[in-house]
Formats: sequence, C-alpha cells, structure tokens
Amino acid sequence: MRAEDWDARYAEQQQWTAGPHPLVAALLEPLPPGDAVDLAAGEGRHALWLAGRGWRATAVDFSATGLARGQERPGADRVTWVTADVTTWDAPAASQDLVLVAYLHLPEEEMAAVLRRAVGWLRPGGRLLVLGHDVANLTGGVGGPQDPAILHSTERLARVAALLDVDRLEQVRRETPSGTALDTLLWGRRPAGPASRGR
Ligand SMILES: C[S@@+](CC[C@H](N)C(=O)[O-])C[C@H]1O[C@@H](n2cnc3c(N)ncnc32)[C@H](O)[C@@H]1O
Repeated sequence: MRAEDWDARYAEQQQWTAGPHPLVAALLEPLPPGDAVDLAAGEGRHALWLAGRGWRATAVDFSATGLARGQERPGADRVTWVTADVTTWDAPAASQDLVLVAYLHLPEEEMAAVLRRAVGWLRPGGRLLVLGHDVANLTGGVGGPQDPAILHSTERLARVAALLDVDRLEQVRRETPSGTALDTLLWGRRPAGPASRGR
C-alpha cells in the first residue's frame, strides 16, 4: 500500500489499539530505557508506550495522517515524530538500543534491506524486534494482508537473524475475536563484537 492509501485508512478511523501489542510489551518491559526507533509506527502506540517508560523514542512512518493520530495522544511531546519512507530513511550507525518493526510488510528484498540497515543502527547489545503476519496465516490463520509476497516467515527473516544473537525466531499465535492469527517473531541482539558470534 502507498502512503496515500494508509493516510486514507487512518483518516477514516483509529486503526490499532491505543496500548502496545501484548507480546511487544512483554518483551520490552524488562529492558532499561534508552534510544529506540519504532519503524512504520503508524499511530505510534509503541513509541508512545516506550516514551512513557522513559525511552527516547522516534516514530517513523510515511503516513502523516497516522502519525497525526499519535501526536494527539497524551505524552506525544516526548516522542520524535518523523514522516518518512522506511526504505530510504536512515539513523546514525550504532545510535539505538532498540529498533521495533511491528506489522510492516514489504516485498522480501525491500524488507531484508530495511532490516539489515536497522541492525546497523543498533549499538552493540541493542535489540531488534520484528513482529508481523506470517505467510502461513493465509491458510492457517485470520486477518492481515493476503499477498504472500509481503508476509514474513522464519525462513525469510533468517538472513537478518544471521546478523544477530537471536533469542527467538519463531511463528507465534495471536488470539483475535475472529480466530487465531499466525505471526512471525524475530527477537535478537546486535552482537557485542565478532568474538560474541555463535554463542
Ligand atoms: C499495520 S500498520 C502497523 C503500525 C504500527 N507498527 C503498529 O503496530 O501499530 C503498518 C504501517 O506501516 C506503514 N508503512 C508501510 N510501508 C511504509 C514505508 N515504506 N515507509 C514508512 N511507513 C510505511 C504504514 O503507513 C502503516 O502505518
């Protein structure tokens, strides 16, 4: 979908829950605050939640209308809001403790390029969290985009995972009012240095 299509969706109504995705919250809650990028932030539910927990959060999305919804929320002044295309936007190397990419769906090569760059933004030990609809959701789950070319799988994320010390790379189930949805989760850390690889 193009930025204009997302703008139209966000103009119609709020799209996502105000609070964070429960799995995102569970993974991030134990972390001490630092610098974070919420890539394809939409209405900024995760950036706002992180900022409320003391993080310096940057919310990046190409939908100005989506971001505008977030900017109306309490605590929005603590978030840095950036209207930009994630396929070209860049952060300084080794400047972030966390990059969160929740439900961003791009063709495989574009997604891999974005995520490879995102790993470069992480400080040693910094975290990458990728969560989105799994390709198996088309046949075994509910909701989400229906184009297999833009969905995640553990196989598709494996080459980005190879750049990280991986804690979790797996398919996860998400219960929704319409049934069970299947997502892919990648949760890992930028290695402290070459010596730490393969732990
Ligand atoms: C399903 S929403 C998820 C929003 C948010 N991450 C969340 O979990 O609440 C997907 C978001 O990706 C954004 N997006 C898609 N392609 C993008 C691109 N190339 N650059 C920036 N944002 C993009 C859309 O505007 C939309 O806000």
